[in-house]
Amino acid sequence: MKNELKTWVSGLPKAELHLHIEGSLEPELMMSLANKHGVELPYSSIEEVRAAYDFHNLQSFLDLYYLGASVLRVEDDFYQLMFAYLTKCRADNVVHAEIMFDPQTHTARGIGFEVFMPGFARAMKQAENEWGQSSLLIMSFLRHLSEESALQTLDDARHYLAMITAVGLDSAELGNPPEKFERVFAKAKSYGLKRVAHAGEEGPPEYIWGATKVLDVHRIDHGVRSIEDPDLIKHLVEKQIPLTVCPLSNTKLKVFKHMQEHNIIQLLEHGLLATINADDPSYFGGYLNDNYFALIDHLPITKPHLLQLVQNSFSASFLPEEVKQDWLAKIV
Ligand code: HPA
Ligand code: ZN
Repeated sequence: MKNELKTWVSGLPKAELHLHIEGSLEPELMMSLANKHGVELPYSSIEEVRAAYDFHNLQSFLDLYYLGASVLRVEDDFYQLMFAYLTKCRADNVVHAEIMFDPQTHTARGIGFEVFMPGFARAMKQAENEWGQSSLLIMSFLRHLSEESALQTLDDARHYLAMITAVGLDSAELGNPPEKFERVFAKAKSYGLKRVAHAGEEGPPEYIWGATKVLDVHRIDHGVRSIEDPDLIKHLVEKQIPLTVCPLSNTKLKVFKHMQEHNIIQLLEHGLLATINADDPSYFGGYLNDNYFALIDHLPITKPHLLQLVQNSFSASFLPEEVKQDWLAKIV
């Protein structure tokens, strides 16, 4: 029964809405780019890299995630990173991907938009030409850095706005509430950019309220702690503000101790527009289908729940309405 559900889910067209491209850097590519550029990493083998991925919270992951990203130096590195992820999309039937990137992780090392944007664009165009892959970019601000740094990043992006659909907010959540970025998000909105924000991963429900009310977001990334506040659930359901939930990430970062404790079924049963996503697949042990498989393995999740999650992935996307409807008609 479980295997049947897995085969069925694998075969459905799906959208992925919460994916950090820097979090798709596989240890093999990390080591090969480190060798190419002479970057010293504290690992001597691919096995050692994988063994280091034993996290106890968000910050312990972020430390390794920023370290790993330090091997990305030239346009072709960013091309390879993006093309590798899009190739995984093809294998998992992810027909549309909304992909986050963290400019400040690169600009802080002197690597500018003129390096990473052409690399991303080249891979996205190639995948679109070769197999019709649909994708778009979400520029995420690192919330542990200042408002000034985020404003500078938005300004640095001015020649690339046509390539960017939305802005996002990621990195260390606790102590960095959404309100810190009110002016940044207002400016992004005035440029015609859509908005998403990580909230309610480690942070409290108040941060989800802040993201919706102050940052005026279209979606909440994670948002699993919304379950603690019935008024917030009511608000998210009424406004149909989607949650981009990431099951393997949540257990790897100890938001839930075990997958059996994950609240995805409760979120769906409250009527929330929840979706399933991989977040940082190379660090958390799997791409999109693996996240669906983990739910099938560990939760009493049913075929109607799974169908709803896959449908939600398109409904919650930034695709044009007619394209959404075309994909929804294909999912039965
Ligand atoms: N949370 C916050 N910041 C991040 C994440 C995440 O899950 N992944 C990459 N940066
Ligand atoms: Zn994330």
